[in-house]
Amino acid sequence: MDLVTGIKERRSIRKFQERQVPHQLLTEVVEVARFAPSWKNTQIARYIVVEDREKIAKLATAECTLGFTYNIRTMAAAPALVLLTYVTGRSGYEKDGSFTTPKEDRWEMFDAGIAAQTFCLAAYEKGLGTVIMGIFDENKVGEVVEIPEGQKIAAIIATGFPADKQTACPPRKDPDDLISFV
Ligand SMILES: Cc1cc2nc3c(=O)[nH]c(=O)nc-3n(C[C@H](O)[C@H](O)[C@H](O)COP(=O)(O)O)c2cc1C
Repeated sequence: MDLVTGIKERRSIRKFQERQVPHQLLTEVVEVARFAPSWKNTQIARYIVVEDREKIAKLATAECTLGFTYNIRTMAAAPALVLLTYVTGRSGYEKDGSFTTPKEDRWEMFDAGIAAQTFCLAAYEKGLGTVIMGIFDENKVGEVVEIPEGQKIAAIIATGFPADKQTACPPRKDPDDLISFV
């Protein structure tokens, strides 16, 4: 699959087949995702794959999703929920612990975002569907799944084999409305 086709055809997938995603396949996705660029190549993104049905059921609740029923439905039926976490205190920081730029530690989420899209594109190329979810309660999720010390959750990516062959593409803005030249 060429790069442009992958970028244009990847869609957010919210309905999955019941079958599990082989660990080998998920590892292959991360093998690709690890080539995402990051602040000074700090590579702060981590992927915690939740497959335990009891834990997924606890995540697919109003408590963990801030009451967003859309995400409750998506999570409940997903074979895997990938908690995309990041190691704190590196991206955006100087060695002495001070911030490099006025954006301070917001580069951590920037790196996590690049990692998330790279993960989703790599997954798509391997026949998997994904949806990045930002609407969740980090503290409540952390009560269900133990997050390693020094890491924070950037997003939850539901992952599995798509249930439907095609998913409609939400409209995109015209390039001329997005680009400007100075
Ligand atoms: C940072 C971020 C947070 C998102 N959060 C959610 C979410 O909580 N629930 C959801 O169903 N989709 C979520 N999405 C998916 C977007 O709705 C989706 O990417 C957008 O509508 C474009 O559709 P497409 O991905 O199929 O091109 C999120 C996407 C991003 C990038």
